[in-house]
Amino acid sequence: MKQLTEKQITDNWNELRTIINNTFSGERLERLNKMYDDLEDRMVVAPASAKKAFHNAMVGGYVEHILHVIKMSLQLKKVWESNEAMINFTDEELIFAAMHHDLGKIGDLEGNDYYIIQENDWRVKNMGEIYTHNEDLSSYMNVTDRAMFILQHYGITMSEFEYLGLKLADGLYEDANEKYLKGYNPAWRLKSNIAYIVHQADMMATHTEYDVWHRDDKKESEKVAMSVNKIKSAVDTQIDKNNEVKEKFNTKTTDAKDIFNELFGEAKK
Ligand SMILES: [Fe+2]
Repeated sequence: MKQLTEKQITDNWNELRTIINNTFSGERLERLNKMYDDLEDRMVVAPASAKKAFHNAMVGGYVEHILHVIKMSLQLKKVWESNEAMINFTDEELIFAAMHHDLGKIGDLEGNDYYIIQENDWRVKNMGEIYTHNEDLSSYMNVTDRAMFILQHYGITMSEFEYLGLKLADGLYEDANEKYLKGYNPAWRLKSNIAYIVHQADMMATHTEYDVWHRDDKKESEKVAMSVNKIKSAVDTQIDKNNEVKEKFNTKTTDAKDIFNELFGEAKK
């Protein structure tokens, strides 16, 4: 399974803080820095999801995911723009929405993390649940509501486009977004493409993170299979040698075969 090194985790955190300092200014920057200082210890290690087959369910997975969504939002903005789409929002607005779309995954303000380590070995092994939802959270809130709640706690204001980009990041995967995205009244259609771009970037990041994990996991399984095969053939060779000795001296030495059968089942018929 993909794991980040300590250096990668530190580099990702520094990159995020640099983007904040280079993008925002004035009182909003001060408040953002206060929030990120307060949440640093929890945010640095937070995963982006609970199950290994989802995306970035690992220490440092959250920050890495956020960096991906910021980068891909900016890339996708260029794709939309080059195809003559209306871009009526700033890069600051786009980055703000991308940066905070999953902020609720950090947890509540009392210090309860949103995800905690899954202690049930069966669920880890059979369901790939590396983390589970923390039942000690102060109340039920979906990730988006929790993001808004944390931002308002720190007095961090946002423009209407930032609000829409953040709120609609899950697209139609979130039922609550239907009214915004399936409006049949022309007057109610979204007046900006920011929400579509953040949603596409989030989806693209999620799928690429899964692909990287899947590739690494496959490589790891192949490595394990190769090691097992090597051990099996080494034991087979030993059994052949023992049989040669047995035939030569008519002994009943079967130690290697017994050990092999105990470890891997029937060795050679
Ligand atoms: Fe996300």
